[in-house]
Amino acid sequence: MLLEGELVRLRALEPEDADEIHTWMHDPEVGRWMNNGYPRSRAQIRKRCEERPVNTYELVVLGIETGGKLIGIVDLRDARPEVGNAELDIYIGDAEYRNGGGYGTDALRVMCRYGFDLMRLHMITLWVVAENERARHVYRKVGFSEDGRHREAFVAADGKRHDMILMSMLKGELE
Ligand SMILES: CC(C)(COP(=O)(O)OP(=O)(O)OC[C@H]1O[C@@H](n2cnc3c(N)ncnc32)[C@H](O)[C@@H]1OP(=O)(O)O)[C@@H](O)C(=O)NCCC(=O)NCCS
Repeated sequence: MLLEGELVRLRALEPEDADEIHTWMHDPEVGRWMNNGYPRSRAQIRKRCEERPVNTYELVVLGIETGGKLIGIVDLRDARPEVGNAELDIYIGDAEYRNGGGYGTDALRVMCRYGFDLMRLHMITLWVVAENERARHVYRKVGFSEDGRHREAFVAADGKRHDMILMSMLKGELE
């Protein structure tokens, strides 16, 4: 199944994507406001890509592609049918395509449309570090609202704590 936006298309990840993903995970700009866990080797990421389970309602992980090039990843996870909600994560790993090209905005719209229309979600939520102004701007732009603040919930690589903002979008609010 092909998920097309104006600038990007979303597709399942392939084992061959591992090298790209490994490079992005070591980009401080990507890691700055995201919790990527403990460092992983190229071989470990490749193994994870090879063994990745098929996408399901509970976890949909998709590569963001433009012009045949993988530039980032977006996912919807922990979907609960009883409530009809799921949590979203996104990053544009390729620096050339980050900030201003509209790729993240477009990918968000495609993923949210998929969540609302095909997965029949009622609500999509996400957490963003308060200082991540660019991400907050993009989330607001596509229709997310800010619900609340989790104080000092994010620990950056330098050990400093930051507040996190909970955002949500209801079905019908996608712009
Ligand atoms: C957040 C992210 C996904 C957005 O995708 P993107 O492709 O870079 O964003 P776009 O090009 O679609 O849009 C960027 C917008 O942010 C705006 N922006 C940039 N810096 C900003 C800042 N400091 N404050 C407010 N807005 C800012 C731009 O003006 C643009 O808005 P506009 O289109 O209304 O003019 C991407 O920057 C990214 O992956 N960042 C690193 C990882 C990350 O932070 N992920 C999110 C974790 S919650």
